[in-house]
Amino acid sequence: MTPDLFNKLARTRRSVFPDQFEPGKKVDDEIINEVVINATWAPNHGQQQPWQFTVFTGEGLKKLAAFQSELYKQEAVELFKEITYDKLQKQPLKASHIIAIGMKRTTTKNIPEIEDIEAVACAVQNIYLSVSAYGLGGYWTTGGITYFEKAKSFFGLGDQDRLLGFFYIGHVAIPSTGATRLPVEEKVNWVYV
Ligand SMILES: Cc1cc2nc3c(=O)[nH]c(=O)nc-3n(C[C@H](O)[C@H](O)[C@H](O)COP(=O)(O)O)c2cc1C
Repeated sequence: MTPDLFNKLARTRRSVFPDQFEPGKKVDDEIINEVVINATWAPNHGQQQPWQFTVFTGEGLKKLAAFQSELYKQEAVELFKEITYDKLQKQPLKASHIIAIGMKRTTTKNIPEIEDIEAVACAVQNIYLSVSAYGLGGYWTTGGITYFEKAKSFFGLGDQDRLLGFFYIGHVAIPSTGATRLPVEEKVNWVYV
């Protein structure tokens, strides 16, 4: 690793969405395992490692699709939209793997909840960078059932824990283009004295 290489990785990493994946082409489970190991090396306050991942692939993707679409139907009630239901059924099947991102709340130390969430977000950035380093595509979604209380137990999460979304992974058929960022001067103030 060199600074140049890392600068390139950090700046060229992009979200790649399911419609940009190569349909039906599976990523090796071994690669996903390495990606998840990298996630677990994220910084975390108090060494509590407050992440909990569930990896779906193969028939597991169908299980996730069925679960999330049915829970959405049950919970959305008057906000129900057929298009969302349909998407929740179909999107998972476009991915090779989906990692459900859970935050297991620290209970043994006095860590503010936001710091457990921040640690998991750091882990997700490791997933993003790892996927990019392997030449794969992926993105973090917080749509669908992410914030439904009733979703938690399906992912091994308890009342105090949080589901923080899903990371979709696949081989890239159509790369993402056109990313921009504001000039760094607009986002950073330097204090010299
Ligand atoms: C916490 C978080 C939640 C996100 N949720 C969604 C989402 O629900 N749907 C979506 O299309 N993208 C989602 N994204 C991905 C963003 O759309 C993406 O990061 C943004 O467009 C910038 O593109 P880039 O990742 O290629 O730099 C999310 C990203 C973050 C950090």
